[in-house]
Amino acid sequence: MGDRILGIETSCDETAAAVVERATQVRSSVVASQIDRHARYGGVVPEIASRAHVEMLTPVVAQALVEAGLADDEVDAVAATVGPGLVGSLLVGVSAAKTLALVWGVPFVAVNHLEGHLYASFLEDPDLDLPLVVLLVSGGHTMLVHMVDHGQYQLLGSTIDDAAGEAFDKVARFLGLGYPGGPVIDKLATTGDPDAIAFPRAMLDRTGDGRHDFSFSGLKTAVVNHVRHHPEVATADVAASFQEAVVDVLVTKARRAAQEVGAKGLCLGGGVAANSALRARFAAACEEDGIRAFVPSRSMCTDNAAMIAAAGWWRLQSDGPSPLDTGATPNLRLPLAG
Ligand code: KG4
Ligand code: ZN
Repeated sequence: MGDRILGIETSCDETAAAVVERATQVRSSVVASQIDRHARYGGVVPEIASRAHVEMLTPVVAQALVEAGLADDEVDAVAATVGPGLVGSLLVGVSAAKTLALVWGVPFVAVNHLEGHLYASFLEDPDLDLPLVVLLVSGGHTMLVHMVDHGQYQLLGSTIDDAAGEAFDKVARFLGLGYPGGPVIDKLATTGDPDAIAFPRAMLDRTGDGRHDFSFSGLKTAVVNHVRHHPEVATADVAASFQEAVVDVLVTKARRAAQEVGAKGLCLGGGVAANSALRARFAAACEEDGIRAFVPSRSMCTDNAAMIAAAGWWRLQSDGPSPLDTGATPNLRLPLAG
C-alpha cells in the first residue's frame, strides 16, 4: 500500500494541501487562509468560502507537491476531507481529490475531518501509546474521545450547546475584538488578570450520565451580563477570566476522563488547542498525573491537510481505498465503536 499521501482539506475557510509519508513524516503542508475575505462579515460566509476554494486549490496542491519534491506519478494516494463541514466547500476538495486519484491511477481516501484532528497529535509524536483520551476542541466541536485503537473511538462527552471555539468567537465579537476570536482573546488575555472575574464553570461537578459533557453558552451569557453591568471593566481582564473559565473546565474534565478509562496519555486537537493557556495547563496536568501529553504544534492544531493525509494513511491501511462515488457529508460523525 502506498505511503506518500497527498491530503486535501477544504471543509471550512482554509484551503490546504500536504504530502505526508506513512502518517508521520510531513514532506509539505500548505495552508491558504481565507480569514481576510470573511473577517468583515464577522464569520465564515459559505458562498465566499466555496468560491475561494475553487480559486486557491490548484495552486495550493501544486505548491504542496513542489515543496515535497514529488512529481505527480510519485503520489501513492489522494485523501480528502469528506465531512463534516460546509457542503459547497467540501465538494471542491472532494471533487479535486477524486479527479487527481482517477487521473493518476491511485487510490482515493475519504477522510473524516474530526479523525484528522485526532491524528494531528501523532504527526509530530508518532510514538503512540494507546489507549488515549483526546480533547478535541474546535470552532464546531468540543469532544472527549476515548481512542481505544486506530480508527476505534468512543465518545465520552461533548458539548450540549456551543463549541469551545464558538464561545471564543462569540465573546470576541461581543467585546468588539474581531474574527476569529480565539487568537485575539489568547493574546489579550496575557495582559489581563485571569482571577479578576469569577465566571461560571458549567457542568464541572456533574456526576453520572453526562459527567463528561460540556456547556459554554451560559458562560458567554455571563460575560455579556458582566460587561453590561460593569461597563468600566478592563477588556483584558474579561478576556483572561473568560479564557480561564474555559481552560479550567476543559482540563479538569479531560484529566478526569483519562483517569476513568485508564488512558496512557491525553491528546489535544482542534483549533482551540492553539490556545497558550490551554496548552500550558494541559501539559502541566498530564505531568502531575504521570501520563503522556500529546500537544501538536500550533499549525497542526488549526485546520491543515497534513492531518488529513495522516488520517488517510491509517484509513487506507484499515479500510482500503474509498469508492469514487463517495460524496461530501456536511454532518458526518466520528465513526464510533461499541
Ligand atoms: O479546528 P479549526 O481551525 O476549525 C474548525 O474545524 O472549527 O478551529 C477554529 C476555531 C475558531 O473558533 C478559533 O477561534 C479557535 O479555533 N482558535 C482558538 C485559537 N486559535 C484558533 N481559540 C483559542 N485560542 C487560540 N489561540
Ligand atoms: Zn477543524
